[in-house]
Amino acid sequence: MATERTLSIIKPDATRRNLTGAVVKKFEDAGLRVVASKRIHLSKAQAGEFYKVHAERPFYDELTTFMASEPVVVQVLEGEGAIQKNRDVMGATNPADAAPGTIRAEFAESVGENSVHGSDSPEAAKEEIAFFFSGLELVG
Ligand code: CDP
Ligand code: MG
Repeated sequence: MATERTLSIIKPDATRRNLTGAVVKKFEDAGLRVVASKRIHLSKAQAGEFYKVHAERPFYDELTTFMASEPVVVQVLEGEGAIQKNRDVMGATNPADAAPGTIRAEFAESVGENSVHGSDSPEAAKEEIAFFFSGLELVG
């Protein structure tokens, strides 16, 4: 499997509870390397642009309000099969369905406030990394 990069966001419910380090440890323990990282406070418009694929979904307004409510930590993770590996470490969207040991099983508060975002395909990873980071900020 090839080395890949994927975009991760540690969401406001996790940064608020001071879980940034605990979440990053899950990534690192799974063999993912943080090659870019920054803490930012998204505007509602920026959150809306990032999640525009969900614009027609009933949870879009709640999701974008939540994502703009407090700071997030956006990161680029690198590793073998990083896109799927990150999804595996995250666990299912609804923490009630997330496998034991996953980030969402351990930390998520609800299906909406579920601690992490992760790109779901190579195309999404490319687009989402470019949304937050310039090439100069990616240090392998
Ligand atoms: O984040 P993931 O790719 O697992 O799930 P998604 O289906 O792409 O949905 C994006 C985000 O919308 C989720 O992580 C939740 O924060 C939120 N969501 C929600 O609030 N209610 C749902 N029924 C589904 C998703
Ligand atoms: Mg998704």
